[in-house]
Amino acid sequence: MNVKALAIFLGGMDAAHRIGVLFQYHLAHDAVTTRFVADEGFATNPAGLLLSSSLRVANPEAQRTLWADITSRLLNGRFSNRNGWLLPALFQNLLPEGVFRDRIAELRACDPKDHFEILAACGKDLPGFVYALPVDLDRDTLNRYITQNQDALEMSVTAEPLEEGVSLSGVQPKVAVTLKDGRYVARTKTGEAHIIAKLPVVGQPQLPELEHLSLQLAGAAGVNVCEARLAPLALLAVEHGYDMDETDAQTLFLAVNRYDRDGPGRVHCEDFAQVLGVWPEDKYREASYTQVALVLNALFGEKGVAELLRRLLVNELLGNPDMHLKNIGLRYPDGHHPELPGAYDIVGYSAYAKRVGHALHLLPPDTPGVKPKLKAEPGIATPGKPQLSPAVLRQFCAILGLPEKPMAAVLRKVIAAAVVKWPDMIAASGITDQMKSNLSAHFRSHQMVQSFEKRASRVAAA
Ligand SMILES: Nc1ncnc2c1ncn2[C@@H]1O[C@H](COP(=O)(O)OP(=O)(O)O)[C@@H](O)[C@H]1O
Ligand SMILES: [Mg+2]
Repeated sequence: MNVKALAIFLGGMDAAHRIGVLFQYHLAHDAVTTRFVADEGFATNPAGLLLSSSLRVANPEAQRTLWADITSRLLNGRFSNRNGWLLPALFQNLLPEGVFRDRIAELRACDPKDHFEILAACGKDLPGFVYALPVDLDRDTLNRYITQNQDALEMSVTAEPLEEGVSLSGVQPKVAVTLKDGRYVARTKTGEAHIIAKLPVVGQPQLPELEHLSLQLAGAAGVNVCEARLAPLALLAVEHGYDMDETDAQTLFLAVNRYDRDGPGRVHCEDFAQVLGVWPEDKYREASYTQVALVLNALFGEKGVAELLRRLLVNELLGNPDMHLKNIGLRYPDGHHPELPGAYDIVGYSAYAKRVGHALHLLPPDTPGVKPKLKAEPGIATPGKPQLSPAVLRQFCAILGLPEKPMAAVLRKVIAAAVVKWPDMIAASGITDQMKSNLSAHFRSHQMVQSFEKRASRVAAA
């Protein structure tokens, strides 16, 4: 039986940073096992770097038990009708998606659904500070990993990572680049790709301009956002092969600074699909924002929850129904303690057409009074997912055990800042007049903006 294996490294690519092995074998033609097994040294080291908050437990004993549980859902892949045999969620979430993945598959000459091979192709440039590199295991080691009494185990060779194999998730066309002599170029041997270049998209005019504006508006409303700027497409000196409609000297792309590549070394990070052990294909439906808030409350207290609420309200004001689990991240600057990095991928889609609803439910579907969850199609937010209202906020805070008043005050502050600052910012931006008027109309129609303005005019009249 053939076994494929990748050694997994965290915090560096040398032997001292090896934490375990991800291996895959086909037991029968229809059953594939893909499992992560931690190295003994990593599993028993209480001071070891943190791979994921999903794997953080109370004490070293519980930690060892967790790593030793080879049946754990967190350590194993599964079958999906849509995408075939998936890697364990933690690793599946490291893979490139959409057109970006197709491009890697083409370069690697493999099936885009061969997730193991795609991970191997991008093994030197995965999100965060993880590496996945080919490893040759001897027979004894193989026998330790695979206990099903297989006498003819054989390693099948996995090729080295591609030089150009960078992994970024998300479906919008993008490339990972670095700035060199004023031009945006592909990663060099020494320079990390510390910028995500998000390119224009056919059918969504001026998307880079709109995303840039949306991030700025979110920032003005009090959200902590990633640093991003618009740059002329003419300065982008990389082969990407994406179809971009007609471009001219005025065409821009969005250059987003990566928070996992902003130091001299890499910074480990993960997204909330990883934090909650959810596979990418379930990013719109396996959890509610309340679950995200419970994690943020445990890690950062009220401040973390307040930031989530700001982002949620800004999404409503902009008509962004796309803050799924992969669009919220955590990072670990010292390798142990999490930090909530700036928000990314905020787009005011209401500039194109009316958009309501959220990517996820605000409250868990089993909360009393909450309607059963509507089935969400991947990539399409369910309009039935309700907006933030006083009643929803009350239930949300009750579940979290947080006082409601300070959270309501957080929301009021967002509205007050948006009402004062947004109109001029929208007017001064580079999106079309029609987009400006759609975005403004959407923002003004929000119930909280309307009550704020009614109150303000009552005060002015008095
Ligand atoms: N500033 C950032 N720093 C680090 N990683 C980021 C940053 N912005 C986005 N990412 C990562 O890249 C992925 C794709 O970026 P995103 O802006 O969400 O693109 P898309 O619009 O295609 O979803 C995200 O899911 C996240 O993992
Ligand atoms: Mg995204």
